[in-house]
Formats: sequence, structure tokens, C-alpha cells
Amino acid sequence: MDETTRKSEGEKSEDKFTETTLRRIELSDVDDFMEWAADEKVSQFCTWDTYTCKDQALDFIKNIAIPHPWLRVICINNKAIGSVSVTPNSGCFDTCRAELGYVLAYKYWGKGIVTKAVKIVVSNIFQEWSNLERLEALVDIDNKGSQRVLEKAGFLKEGVLRKFKNIKGRSRDEVIFSFLSTDALQE
Ligand SMILES: CC(C)(COP(=O)(O)OP(=O)(O)OC[C@H]1O[C@@H](n2cnc3c(N)ncnc32)[C@H](O)[C@@H]1OP(=O)(O)O)[C@@H](O)C(=O)NCCC(=O)NCCS
Repeated sequence: MDETTRKSEGEKSEDKFTETTLRRIELSDVDDFMEWAADEKVSQFCTWDTYTCKDQALDFIKNIAIPHPWLRVICINNKAIGSVSVTPNSGCFDTCRAELGYVLAYKYWGKGIVTKAVKIVVSNIFQEWSNLERLEALVDIDNKGSQRVLEKAGFLKEGVLRKFKNIKGRSRDEVIFSFLSTDALQE
């Protein structure tokens, strides 16, 4: 293969990922969902345990993901390859804030897909939820890829919350990031 051919194939594959879209999850996404939910590389920094069977996934999609206030699957050509969610603060007060979460199937990592998905969320969620002023994200101290996503999407790193979350039986330090409704959107 010559240099020109390699370059044009590379460009094509980059183009493919600029078509990243978000949509609501459906029960028929279950097999694609298992691609990331059953993968320990994906779940290692997440509070949920790695999925072991399709029934667990169907139960989650039906009872948690579909009724969730704001959960979308990240898609390439309408195939679900990950998800992104915004969960309102659970207290009666402080409806001004909500927490961002995301996950992507391993084979799609490192192509800018979640950064693109987060930018789409940030550019829409403050209009959709007029009370929302602060979108926050908590990231394991060792999850450098996720921290980089938030930096690229324009979030501000505010500090480290020590021993803040229990992940797979260990209390972990979490880096806290925020994006305010008044912050500048990134290109
Ligand atoms: C974290 C995750 C969402 C990133 O998604 P992604 O689509 O691969 O992210 P992007 O390609 O948009 O950006 C990743 C950035 O992190 C960087 N990165 C990845 N691993 C890194 C590491 N170990 N150290 C430093 N930077 C790293 C990449 O180089 C890239 O930055 P760059 O564009 O400046 O080169 C994905 O890896 C994932 O689903 N992980 C498992 C689930 C998870 O951790 N979710 C977040 C919980 S808070």
C-alpha cells in the first residue's frame, strides 16, 4: 500500500466518526449494549459491575435506561456504541446541577467520539432544562482518558474529592469537573 492510499483510508475512517449521533435507547440495542457493558476494560472505573448476561442488560435498558431523565446512546450509522447520560441532583434542592456520565465500547476508544458526544450534550442540555446551571462530572483519579475528554469539551477541573466513591470495593479519589450554562462552548 503506498502513502497516498494509506492517507486517504485514514481520512475516510476519521470522516466516519464525525457522523457521531445521539438517540434514545431501545430494547433492540441490547446486543450492542453488551459490547461495552460486559467488558471489564470499560467498567473498571465505573460504579456498576461488569454485566454477565443479556437478561441483566434487558432489565437495565427496560427499567433504568428507557425511563432515565436523560440517557442517549452514542451511535455511528445508528448502531449504538456507547452511552451518555445527564442525571439531575437527587435532593429536593439544588435543581441547578446535574451529573454527566458516559461510556464507549473499547474498539472505538481514542477517535474523539466521546468528546464529540459531550460537546453535543453541552450545547443542548441547558436549553432543554432551563433550571440547569451546572453540569458536573466526577472522574476516577487514574482515568486519564476521561479527564482529557472533559478538558477538551471545555469543562473546568475544580479539584480532587478524596475517598469519594466506592468503585469495585475500593474507596477512590475523584476529580471533579464542571461546565456552567454561561461557559463558552468549544468548537
Ligand atoms: C474515557 C472514555 C469515555 C474516552 O472516550 P474516547 O472516545 O476514547 O475519548 P476521546 O477519543 O474523545 O478522547 C480521549 C483523550 O484522552 C487521551 N487519553 C486516553 N488515554 C489516556 C491516558 N491513559 N493518559 C492520558 N491521556 C489519555 C487521548 O489521547 C485523547 O486525548 P487527545 O485527543 O488529546 O489525544 C472511554 O475510554 C471509555 O468509555 N472508558 C470506559 C468508561 C469510562 O471510564 N467512562 C467515564 C467514567 S467517568
